[in-house]
Amino acid sequence: MARLFIQLYLLIVATLLVVGWGLDRLWQLYGDQVALDDHGSNSALLLLQHELEKLPPEHWALHVEEANRATPAQILLFDGRQIVGETVQEKLDRGEVAHLQSGSDYWLHLKQVPGSDSVLALKQHRHAQERSPFEWLLMLIFYAAIALVIMIWVWPLSRDLKILERATRRFADNSWSFEADIKPNAQLFPLARAFRQMAARIEALISSHKDMSNAVSHELKTPLARIQFELAIAEKADDIETMRRHIDNIKGDVNEVNALATATLDYAILERADFSLHISRCQVAEVLAAIVEHASAEAGGAPQISFHNGAPSLQVSCDLHLMERLVKNLIYNATKYARRRIEVALAQRGGEFRISVEDDGPGIPAGDRERVFDSFVRLSPCGAGKDGFGLGLAIVKRVAEWHNGSVRVTESQLGGACFEVVLPIG
Ligand SMILES: Nc1ncnc2c1ncn2[C@@H]1O[C@H](COP(=O)(O)OP(=O)(O)OP(=O)(O)O)[C@@H](O)[C@H]1O
Ligand SMILES: [Mg+2]
Repeated sequence: MARLFIQLYLLIVATLLVVGWGLDRLWQLYGDQVALDDHGSNSALLLLQHELEKLPPEHWALHVEEANRATPAQILLFDGRQIVGETVQEKLDRGEVAHLQSGSDYWLHLKQVPGSDSVLALKQHRHAQERSPFEWLLMLIFYAAIALVIMIWVWPLSRDLKILERATRRFADNSWSFEADIKPNAQLFPLARAFRQMAARIEALISSHKDMSNAVSHELKTPLARIQFELAIAEKADDIETMRRHIDNIKGDVNEVNALATATLDYAILERADFSLHISRCQVAEVLAAIVEHASAEAGGAPQISFHNGAPSLQVSCDLHLMERLVKNLIYNATKYARRRIEVALAQRGGEFRISVEDDGPGIPAGDRERVFDSFVRLSPCGAGKDGFGLGLAIVKRVAEWHNGSVRVTESQLGGACFEVVLPIG
């Protein structure tokens, strides 16, 4: 704080001093010019000169003295031959008024009395350069006011910078939480918000990678244990038939490990920070209709899947492949849990479109509606069909986020779950 304040203060004061000094010099030059162009002084000299011309030269000194006594002006009469300086001399010879600086306080307006060597000089004060104590006091107040203004500006800035620094240090010291109490109207608030977003993203990435590696090792354990068990029995098998049966079981477990690896890799790609979308224009209603048709055919009419197309000609910018995955994951889940009915709907509102998939199954308990979108989360053993890895909804969430959209689950009017994805049309 002190360093920032002193640096800024010195910079501003130095700038003011340099600019002030420059202006002073300019003003002085301008002031001198005004003084020298003063017609009053020149006319007074001319008048006096005319008067002297009417008198004999021996009375000139006396007349000048009288003029000095009668007026506040200071006039001198001296021998022009004493004057050094060619330009001044030339001007006087031409009968013009010349100027000479006398010390640092006076200007002399000079005029030669025609036909003589005598020169009349009118003394004029230069502008006073000395500052009075009051002016010094004003100057002091001026610089103190600048210090105060800078202080008022710098103090909250430096306080917030310190808060940010401390929060960043804590974050770096593995606490993985970024707590910086910076007010919304502070100058550094946008920076703090950007930091917070970055920290949240890092935290989410780290925790999702942690969860993923924990979950993968956990998922791998079961088929590997089964493989070990099958191998141990197969080794002891006497006949080729029993051996084949165990080998077939092992094949099933290997396939499961393979499917897990594929699903995890697929999901890991979506989790990557540098993941990029292949955006194209797509007719989202057509995509939905095709997937619904395919799922209906696979389900064989039970459950029954209906599609309410509320935006038939809607064109959106999206990654077609990912959009298909999103819709398939939701519909595939619904077919696993629905009892009789699934309703898929497409609607458009403003610059957004909404895809919803509802079913009449058991639904998602209110307490699980957030975490169900985390990777490797499965709530309860599902009904029909094979168990998944708990990645389907995590993929849906990632895809929605990559498209700057969101997904949420609520309770459906059908009685089950209602998954709702809202995405910008783009
Ligand atoms: N329509 C639904 N109704 C009720 N529960 C659901 C529904 N959809 C998902 N769930 C619950 O959410 C959990 C997570 O679903 P998710 O799609 O992520 O994983 P999964 O279907 O189990 O496996 P995967 O999709 O990876 O094959 C499921 O295990 C299930 O418990
Ligand atoms: Mg699923």
